[in-house]
Amino acid sequence: MKPPMKEVNESTKAATEDAVLNPRFYTTDFAEMDRLDVSALRKDWDELVDEFRRDPNKNHFKRNEEFEALDFTGWSPELKTAFIEFLVSSVTAEFSGCILYAEIKKRVKNQDIRDLFGFMSRDEGRHAGFINHTLADFNVAVDLSFLTKAKKYTYFKPKYIYYATYLSEKIGYARYITIFRQLEKHPEYRFHPIFKWFENWCHDEFRHGEAFAVLMRANPQFLQGGNKIWIRFFLLAVFATMYVRDHARRGFFESLGFDVDDFDRRVIKLTNEISQQCFPVTIDTDNPKFWALLETMNQNMQAIERGNKAGGLGGWLTSTGAKLSNGWTFLRLMLLPAVHKPLPANFRLEPVW
Ligand SMILES: [Fe+2]
Ligand SMILES: [Fe+2]
Repeated sequence: MKPPMKEVNESTKAATEDAVLNPRFYTTDFAEMDRLDVSALRKDWDELVDEFRRDPNKNHFKRNEEFEALDFTGWSPELKTAFIEFLVSSVTAEFSGCILYAEIKKRVKNQDIRDLFGFMSRDEGRHAGFINHTLADFNVAVDLSFLTKAKKYTYFKPKYIYYATYLSEKIGYARYITIFRQLEKHPEYRFHPIFKWFENWCHDEFRHGEAFAVLMRANPQFLQGGNKIWIRFFLLAVFATMYVRDHARRGFFESLGFDVDDFDRRVIKLTNEISQQCFPVTIDTDNPKFWALLETMNQNMQAIERGNKAGGLGGWLTSTGAKLSNGWTFLRLMLLPAVHKPLPANFRLEPVW
């Protein structure tokens, strides 16, 4: 479908772009999702859906006077650009969840699935709206209705949606809580009030992750046999994407008082550890080779960018070489020894980090 012709601002254009590292929009096989059965874990499922229905964060996403009083005229242009980039990427990811979950609710008849995805879509819509309000303070709100129509949708089989979305919810939790805890200790780095909202916010993401955990544990066929290779693939893809994306925004993390390497190590280790609740195979994050290969991918991405900028035959050779090296590096990541552990019987977790 051709995007509708409309004048949109730069942040909407940035959100619409489907570069390798940008958050994407997804679509799936709704008929297959309709056949999902959660009756093997009925009690866990109903408890979780009740929690969603109680809506613990109903009143959380309201702005206070701190937002209105914020004066960012003294900010450096670098900080402003980095913060806006962070918000645009976050609003795209939140809104991607909002429309995928809403579409699942609309397209399936299975009441369990409809209930759950309706609640999750509600939460993500709230998150996206809250971020977009902050972008509006800088006069660069993303046009979400334009994005819905203009952005490309990537098709994923349902099981890939479960692996990828489970991980993005849990890594979202790990990122928000790591930032929140840092600023709790070092309020001098809290340059915007939105960071104070991250604690309750990340509980929503944690709960969304729990929903996918129950869904997969109730359908163990997704966690066995050849699917274990897919699980490793998604773990590595999610970790590598985050590593490379964050390292391209080193300055943003410095303004929060983080060393980007340290931040990514903490977030990846925590997400990997949490994911043992439903993944029988995870990454050995104590293996220095794992981190070295992520760094190789990061160097390659920088070379690709340099090559694209330079253009000509030389630029093409640089970027093609780096792309080939990235494929090879990812394969080496897949071949590293993984951690195999039996799934825990009591797998439900609380956001205690
Ligand atoms: Fe969210
Ligand atoms: Fe979420």
